Amino acid sequence: MNPLLDRLQPYPFQRLKALFADARPDPALGHVDLSIGEPKHPTPDLIKQAIIAHFGGLEQYPATLGLADLRHAIADWLSRRYDIARPNPDSEILPVLGSREALFSFVQASIDREQGYTPVVISPNPFYQIYEGAALLAGAEPYYVNCLAEQAFQPDWASVPDAVWRRTQLVFVCSPGNPTGAVMTLDDWRALFELSDRHGFIIASDECYSEIWFDQPPLGALQAAKLLGRDKSRLVVFSSLSKRSNAPGLRSGFVAGDAALLARFLLYRTYHGSAMSAMVQAASAAAWRDEAHVEANRAAYRAKFDALVPILAETLGVSRPDAAFYLWAKVPDRFAGDDAAFARAAFEQCHVTVLPGSYLARDAHGINPGAGRIRLALVAPLADCIEGAKRLAEFAA
Ligand SMILES: Cc1ncc(COP(=O)(O)O)c(C=O)c1O
Repeated sequence: MNPLLDRLQPYPFQRLKALFADARPDPALGHVDLSIGEPKHPTPDLIKQAIIAHFGGLEQYPATLGLADLRHAIADWLSRRYDIARPNPDSEILPVLGSREALFSFVQASIDREQGYTPVVISPNPFYQIYEGAALLAGAEPYYVNCLAEQAFQPDWASVPDAVWRRTQLVFVCSPGNPTGAVMTLDDWRALFELSDRHGFIIASDECYSEIWFDQPPLGALQAAKLLGRDKSRLVVFSSLSKRSNAPGLRSGFVAGDAALLARFLLYRTYHGSAMSAMVQAASAAAWRDEAHVEANRAAYRAKFDALVPILAETLGVSRPDAAFYLWAKVPDRFAGDDAAFARAAFEQCHVTVLPGSYLARDAHGINPGAGRIRLALVAPLADCIEGAKRLAEFAA
C-alpha cells in the first residue's frame, strides 16, 4: 500500500475519543456536544422535494461535468452573491460532492512532482485537516503558517522564507476561517494575490462558511479579484451547500475559478469517478436558487451567538467572530494553556464536549497556535447551546 498513508495524522475526533476514553461524566447532566461542526438545523423542504421529484435520475450515469442547469444556477448565485460578472457555467464551474472531496482531489490533480524539488502546499494553522492530508498524499510537503489573534487570525505570510515560497505550488486559505471565524479583508487578498503573482502558486480558497455571517456578507475570493481588477488566473474557490443549506448529507458543493485549472481538474475527476447524481444536482440547483432558507439559517445562528457570547465573554474570553458558527475560546489561566486538560475536565464535570484547539493545529515555528484554546461549534439547538454555555461558564469561573 501507498506508504504516504502512514503520514496521515489522526483526525481530531479520534484524538478526542482517546482523551475521553476513561472519563466518567455525571449521568444526571444531559450531554451537550459543541465539538463537531456538523450543521443540525433542519434541511429545507425544497431540497427534500427536489430529491423526491427526481428519483428518475437514478436510471442514468451522471456526467462528471454535471448538468447545465446546476452550473447555471451556481453561476447566477455567484454573480448575485458577489456582484461579479457571471462566471462561464461551461468552463469556470464544476459541481463536486461537497467541498471536502474537492479540496482533497484538487490537490491530487494540481501538484506537479516532476519539477526536481519537493513541492510545498501552504496551509493556515489552525486548519481543516483535509488540507494536510491532501498535501501529504499528493507527495507534497505541508507548510503551516500560524494564524494568531494579534494578526486578526490571518496567516502571517511575512514569516514564510523565500526558499519555501520558491517550492510552493498551492496555498490554502479559509475565509471565513474554521475555527477562528476570521474573514479576509480586501487588503489581505491584495497581499495574497501579489504573492501568488510573484511565486506562481495556485490559491485554493475554501469558502464553505461564506453564508453564515452576522453584519455583512464576507468578501469572497472571486469578488476580491474583481475589486482588485484581476482575472481568475491561478484562483479556485470551493463552496458548499452543507452549511449554507443545512444539507451535509447531500454532499454537494462546487469549485469555481480559473478555467484552465478546472479543465485539468475535470479530466482528473472523470478518472476519479466523482460525478454527482442527477437527483442531487436537481436538489442543489433548487437550493442555490433560494435565499429564504439561508436567511432563516443565518438568523438561527445569530440568535445563538447573541445568547452565548455574553454568557462566555468573561470566563472564556470569547467575542462574536466575523462569520461561521464557531467560538474560538480561551481556556482559563488555571489550565496553563492545556486545552486538552480543559476539554477533558469540562466533559467530566459539565458533560459538555468541546474540541481542544491544539488538535486543530500543528506545532509550527515554536508554538501550537491552537494551544490554550477550545473550539465551540454552535450547532446544537439554541436551548442546548445556552445550557452548555452556562455550565462551561460556571466551570471556567
Ligand atoms: C473549513 C472546512 N472546509 C470544508 C469542509 C467540508 O465541508 P463539505 O464537504 O460538507 O462541503 C468543512 C467541514 O466541516 C470545513 O470545516
